[in-house]
Amino acid sequence: MSRWVYVNGRYLPYGQAGVHVEDRGFQFADAVYEVCEIRGGRIVDESRHLARLERSLGELDMPMPMSAKALGRVIRETIRRNRVRDGLVYLQVTRGAAPRDFLFPDPERVPQTVVCTARSVPLAKVGLEMRPGIHVVTMPDERWARRDIKTVQLLASSLARQRARAKGAGEAWLVDGSGHVTEGAASNAWIVSEAGVLVTRPPSHDILKGVTRAAVFDLARREGLEIEERAFTVEEAKRAAEAFITSASNAVTPVLRIDDSPIGAGEPGPFTEKLARALYSVTELSI
Ligand code: PDD
Repeated sequence: MSRWVYVNGRYLPYGQAGVHVEDRGFQFADAVYEVCEIRGGRIVDESRHLARLERSLGELDMPMPMSAKALGRVIRETIRRNRVRDGLVYLQVTRGAAPRDFLFPDPERVPQTVVCTARSVPLAKVGLEMRPGIHVVTMPDERWARRDIKTVQLLASSLARQRARAKGAGEAWLVDGSGHVTEGAASNAWIVSEAGVLVTRPPSHDILKGVTRAAVFDLARREGLEIEERAFTVEEAKRAAEAFITSASNAVTPVLRIDDSPIGAGEPGPFTEKLARALYSVTELSI
């Protein structure tokens, strides 16, 4: 739990932190966010996360609320005040609070809302422990058509995770109209084909271009692994040798079963293990 929360220039105790009832994040989900992993007191891939934040804002015709450097200071101070060494830091930026109107308020008169929270989460030790594998269940992708923008419009994703949990699974794999997996409710989806090729869907409006996905790409290239950026069907995934998910909060997490089909030998495979163990050798760690 974040004990101190940054809200619009002030650090407030958790119980006193809030935004206005007319905030457009609340009324319209008119907001974007980022989540960074904190590992050993360092921020993982901060520049890539802040670059994606700027892109997401730009796609919604919003500027950065302050410079990336100033946002970095807010993130660090929030981590420091909450004494987080291993955990997650969240940043939300909305179009601000204004009388309810579908049209955007005048940006000259309405400042954006900026919220930052940080909390400790126990993480697997780098190179020593593997995250336990999870089961995933597949279901139709009911999200909007611009999943490349990291908006706080997360209702369909939340419903999907909840439905997955009700079936004892750790993640939902969302499936488009043609039977291809888009991504997880809050992670990117990967398989290792029967031929030993890493396969993940190419960046487009259909998926969020994950920062962890980019790191795994760098790592796979360094290790000389073959990668194909293409969509795969649920059937292909069920026949795969290995499967895993990537995200800031899950790093590389093995997938051991998809619906009722065990993947490979039903335990983490060698590609997944290699990528999970070496992930932090390719990430930027900033203090
Ligand atoms: N989720 N796809 C979706 C839909 C996501 O929400 C996320 C991240 C990812 C992976 O992106 P990254 O590697 O940059 O974390 C892919 C974050 C962690 C969350 O909301 O919890």
